[in-house]
Amino acid sequence: MAVGLGAPSRSFAAGSGGGGGGGGAGRRKKKVFLHSVPTRCLIQCRTREPATKVYAVSDLHTDYSENMAWVRGLSIDSYASSALIVAGDVAETRENFAATMKLLKDRFRRVFFVPGNHDLWLRKEKGLFLHSLEKLNALLDVCRELGVETSPAVVGDVGIIPLYSWYHQSFDKEKDVSGIRIPSIDTVCKDFYACKWRQELSPKDTSLAICFDSMNEVHRDSIEQIQQNALHIITFSHFVPRQDLCPEKRMLFYPNLPKIIGSDLLEERLRLIHGANGQPSACHVFGHTHFSWDVELDGIRYVQAPLAYPRERKRRMNGGAEWLPFCIYDGALTARLTSCRWSEYYTLNKRDPNNIDLAPWVARFYQQQR
Ligand SMILES: [Fe+2]
Repeated sequence: MAVGLGAPSRSFAAGSGGGGGGGGAGRRKKKVFLHSVPTRCLIQCRTREPATKVYAVSDLHTDYSENMAWVRGLSIDSYASSALIVAGDVAETRENFAATMKLLKDRFRRVFFVPGNHDLWLRKEKGLFLHSLEKLNALLDVCRELGVETSPAVVGDVGIIPLYSWYHQSFDKEKDVSGIRIPSIDTVCKDFYACKWRQELSPKDTSLAICFDSMNEVHRDSIEQIQQNALHIITFSHFVPRQDLCPEKRMLFYPNLPKIIGSDLLEERLRLIHGANGQPSACHVFGHTHFSWDVELDGIRYVQAPLAYPRERKRRMNGGAEWLPFCIYDGALTARLTSCRWSEYYTLNKRDPNNIDLAPWVARFYQQQR
């Protein structure tokens, strides 16, 4: 079995904190410290590097040739002293993942990564992996070989902390839309058949969310070091930490989307790092929904800067190919990302999740389905 880097790869396959489902996030087992802290990380925490720019991007989806061409087209020179945060969903195949990360590592001095759901799909891997955690270990091996970082580290004055996560359906706390025929999650969400899990893990309860959250325990000491030494901290995940980082259900073509996007454990964990009330230097980068987002909530800045699918970029107000990757830090956290339709909408309009009157474009869509 392949052994991954930094993150506790052996523990992934051996069963770290999975446990049966049901219930809310608060019912998880006591966290277990899985591995000793990598020495390399402690050294990085103590050693100050010169200030550097930090860029962020998610959802590269380089199985699309246009997206791989976008990565290949990134300047070889412009980012040579910078760091890049890649917030998951790089590619569906290990081969495309490795090619993409190599291109990025050739362009950026440091590259950080956490896995997204598409990264762990098995449907095109020709039986190479027994289950998706085995593929995760293989991807972490690729990262180790290329020098891509998957553990907390300090870059200049910034601590960068990857947070492993998976979604659970009880993350959705808002009123369901009724009166239209919404396809079931099983039929809409390809993860349910494109990923495979050990018997005790399921996407239908909280077991996967707990399993992935427990992978972060190995970094407890290195995170403490960063909290003591770094002037700014950027945490990042693939999945969504709060439901108010997604449009209300009535705005969505698939109103049940919030059931397959986020984890309460993630928000809990990042608040432990940044503080319950956040602080001006606190930032969390996420991905997954492909909605560009930049907002401050309860003292933490939350940013999503997705490349997304080519068809989505064409629909987007200001594309994305030109302003990505987004520079999130340049001596301090940078000015707000523009082109974020939904986070701009919610700065002007109060969220009203009890209103389930469909937005006109959603109503039209379901009328056409009849
Ligand atoms: Fe994605």
